[in-house]
Amino acid sequence: MENDISLDLPSGSAPRATKARVDEARSAGDFAEAVLAGLTRTPRSIPCRFFYDARGSELFEEITKLEEYYPTRTETALLEAYGSEIAELAGPGRMIIEFGSGSSRKTSLLLSALGEVPAYIPIDIAAESLKEAAEWLSGQHDWLTIVPLIADFTTTRALPQVARGKRRLGFFSGSTIGNLTHDEARAFLVNAARLLGKGSTFLVGVDLKKPASMLLPAYNDAQGVTAAFNLNLLTRINRELEGTFDLTRFGHDAVWNAEAGRIEIYLVSLARQSVRVLGRAFSFATGERIHTENSHKYTVAEFQDLARAGGWHPVKAWTDPDNLFSLHLLRLD
Ligand code: TRP
Repeated sequence: MENDISLDLPSGSAPRATKARVDEARSAGDFAEAVLAGLTRTPRSIPCRFFYDARGSELFEEITKLEEYYPTRTETALLEAYGSEIAELAGPGRMIIEFGSGSSRKTSLLLSALGEVPAYIPIDIAAESLKEAAEWLSGQHDWLTIVPLIADFTTTRALPQVARGKRRLGFFSGSTIGNLTHDEARAFLVNAARLLGKGSTFLVGVDLKKPASMLLPAYNDAQGVTAAFNLNLLTRINRELEGTFDLTRFGHDAVWNAEAGRIEIYLVSLARQSVRVLGRAFSFATGERIHTENSHKYTVAEFQDLARAGGWHPVKAWTDPDNLFSLHLLRLD
């Protein structure tokens, strides 16, 4: 079968070029609005989906290969060890819908374990890495039909035509669910249930609670890749929103919030300064922070409770011998 790596449109009405331009304009407006609102509120914060421009996606790939960043290799090892058991429990003939697919490297393992898959629909906000991932993956599995969707997976309300009438397996890896607050995560699970439908299964990768001494280096590595990833958001604001951030006068910080059970990522102003964005001035005190990301950690039981609250039935959870990371298979009855 020929690979389909074109962009499928759920609505199917507008011509492709027009739809792409409209999407681009909409996402530029979305970024401007989010940054201006985020810098105006107290405390300041910018949503983490804006990390993933071309450079941001590249830097994130580098993070996943760092010695300090255990989640990617641990989740990969779990998929390698339990892929056939997951495939057996999920059942045959399912199409894969992936939320926040990134480079799709782990998906390749899942595809190999599942055998014939009618189609793969990766959903990601990063257009460039989605395209590269689709090309790479079609080289690995030449029978595979790939229908990428450039979208914010938290607000995706419809799947492409090709998904009609097929049994579905959702895939949400990398503990990306931890980047949502508990309320957002529950709302996401409810929406995913609606999107995937009754009888579907959902494989979710979730980072586990562990001592801060191991968590903190994963979000503040010695080489400074995570710092560069965080600061790249300011470079993107400078480029796309006429920003005047001086990159030498902002730093990166990662904090463990024990009460909330999450790592919090911040950009920190290293001086008293004023910065302009789209003609508006924002002043920063020394040490003043912009919150850019949460990464919630769960115990297996805590995540199963969350899954139930989102309407899903936990089928099985797998963890590694060091209890670093968990993979959960959920079912919608
Ligand atoms: N889902 C990843 C996580 O929470 C995202 C991530 C990894 C991240 N490292 C980061 C986000 C550093 C911001 C900064 O682990």
